[in-house]
Amino acid sequence: MTISTSPQSISIKQFFDRDSCTYTYLIVDPQTHEGAIIDGVKEQLTRDLKYIEELGIELLYAIETHVHADHISSAGLIRQKTGAQIVYSQASGVKSIDIELCDGDILPLGQYQIKAISTQGHTCGCMSYYIGGRVFTGDTLLIRGCGRTDFQLGSSKSLYYSVTEKLFSLPDETVVYPGHDYNGNTCSTIVEEKQWNPRLGKQKSLRDFIDIMDNLNLALPKKINEAVPANEGCGIKFKPDAYVHDDFSITELYQVWQQQNPDNLIIDNRTEGEYLQGHIPNSQNIPLGTEPEHLEAFKSFKHIYIYCHSGRRSQTALTNLVMMGLENITCVSHSGFDDWIVRGYPVEK
Ligand SMILES: [Fe+2]
Repeated sequence: MTISTSPQSISIKQFFDRDSCTYTYLIVDPQTHEGAIIDGVKEQLTRDLKYIEELGIELLYAIETHVHADHISSAGLIRQKTGAQIVYSQASGVKSIDIELCDGDILPLGQYQIKAISTQGHTCGCMSYYIGGRVFTGDTLLIRGCGRTDFQLGSSKSLYYSVTEKLFSLPDETVVYPGHDYNGNTCSTIVEEKQWNPRLGKQKSLRDFIDIMDNLNLALPKKINEAVPANEGCGIKFKPDAYVHDDFSITELYQVWQQQNPDNLIIDNRTEGEYLQGHIPNSQNIPLGTEPEHLEAFKSFKHIYIYCHSGRRSQTALTNLVMMGLENITCVSHSGFDDWIVRGYPVEK
């Protein structure tokens, strides 16, 4: 088999979802008509299926760069409609997928090869895909930016090395196709990003990068509590009763606490210092970011409830637990321990 690496000969279509600013890609070998869709959006399923049919594409793969937090993937529905195989990184933790890729694995597509490049950091399971002089970077490397690292077990340090040691070692002329753009840009190149990316370019140090990422102060994505659990089931296996999240109030948590059910675990995910000053009786202190150390313990409970000070950290912890493959997780998302005190509920010190 001859492997073509010519960037001109593979066909790439780039589509945009206005609501989430997500780019979806259709890549096709023009000779064999075999193709793949990368990061399909559920709301755009009709559009994408129409192009697949009109262009006569034999869709082999529905490839995902990571478990998205801002939209629900169409991968499961694409598989149902076309027979395409769902592809994720092995580290994504997604259930019911067809092909799990590790760093360096190859997917054949007609006369081409798609090379998987593990680029963890935005989430713990991010994968970039290189084919014919192009790289699809998901949210790892954006045009003059990068994905955030503050939920889904993200890590600024991992993202820094994924970009500077892996993506920036690709040929300079490699075309970069990102998972999102919020400014109307469509693609970039590795050499451009090495020079002009304000977070990672010009050989920025790890320390400088972490400082930038620690001070982004971004709001959580609107759909995060819906999208992350749904995407853990390829976008179609979402069971609303398995993940209670929005609008769960401190009063409802109090009702759960009153039951004293040994199958329930109530997690306080504030810092140890905050916890020691007062917490819900019998809650366990699992500070945000330390969840993976407690995976085995978590599995012995049927339902996990999370609270923090205001609801922000508990929502982030929920995404971390979902990424660890856990179900039945509820977080108090719009209030927290202050509200518990105001209502006069019991406090343990
Ligand atoms: Fe993302």
